[in-house]
Amino acid sequence: MNILILSAGTRNKIIQYFKDTLSDRGRVVAADMQNIAPAIYEADKYYIVPRITEPGYMDLVLDICRREKINAVLSLIDPELSLLAANRNRFDESGITVIGSSYDLCEMALDKMQMFHWLSEHGYNCAKSYDDKEVFYKDLDNNKISFPVFVKPVRGSASVAINKVEDKETLELLWSHSEGLMIQEYLRGQEIGADVYIDMISHEVVSIFTKRKLLMRAGETDKAVSFKDEKLFSLIESFVTDCGWSGQIDIDIFDIDGEYYISEVNPRFGGGYPHAYECGCNHMKLIENNVNGIANNKNTGAYEEGICMMKYSEIMIKEYSE
Ligand SMILES: Nc1ncnc2c1ncn2[C@@H]1O[C@H](COP(=O)(O)OP(=O)(O)O)[C@@H](O)[C@H]1O
Ligand SMILES: [Mg+2]
Repeated sequence: MNILILSAGTRNKIIQYFKDTLSDRGRVVAADMQNIAPAIYEADKYYIVPRITEPGYMDLVLDICRREKINAVLSLIDPELSLLAANRNRFDESGITVIGSSYDLCEMALDKMQMFHWLSEHGYNCAKSYDDKEVFYKDLDNNKISFPVFVKPVRGSASVAINKVEDKETLELLWSHSEGLMIQEYLRGQEIGADVYIDMISHEVVSIFTKRKLLMRAGETDKAVSFKDEKLFSLIESFVTDCGWSGQIDIDIFDIDGEYYISEVNPRFGGGYPHAYECGCNHMKLIENNVNGIANNKNTGAYEEGICMMKYSEIMIKEYSE
């Protein structure tokens, strides 16, 4: 199996894991819009491509796929997931598997209000959310919610512009300075990350890795420790099946006094996935099997508890070209 990894950026580990897993059974091709994206240099071959919003971008990606005899393609950034899903038919026609969820689900994952509506309508614990300030004030008057609250962009990512807000004055100030904000019930609890693989053939949840986040930095899990809880695994399985996610996803969850609250989903390899891989949850192998037409057996929780992941910086040296 040959795989193309789009918007590889600084996700060197993801490229390395695919290379190690595929070994001599396939090639890893990476692409990015910048030649200073270190991950591309880990691949067997790389392409510098235009920004994903450029007209003709997908044609170019399809050209690369044909030239490199690519069997599967995935992206590591959120806005590209919908784009790939929207073009799934074109990839199918060339026999290329897009690793990811449906277009509608990729769009829902980008929109925290849409996600909130889905979760609350389907009976899952989640933070009460508002994109209408007046509705929030009404609930505040009726004691249905209280300060502090969490204010963040509806379509935000990487923890940009997130705020814990203690009073109306601050809320008004934030609201008057930016568009597209939402107010969310403040969740006080242990943050958890789940790396989940949903088999693309059997549609079953075949692998789950969960970790308690010990430290977050710049929107990413910096230190975490693996753990297992059957109650959490069942919740993840029913949520994922009800919602219909596919392939690799990453879920943010809060544990509040023993009750799990689903916060958000990234339908791709999350920044904390290396923890799962290093603990034995090799989702690259699951992808290889699926692309070769083989369904994976269910093997959730196949890792040790109490294994800590600590991130640290690495550097890469290259000759520079404009
Ligand atoms: N309702 C909330 N209560 C408390 N903390 C929150 C809440 N929502 C988000 N956070 C914190 O902010 C971080 C980023 O928010 P998140 O909704 O995951 O957006 P994104 O990762 O897309 O920027 C979370 O990882 C969590 O630490
Ligand atoms: Mg998040």
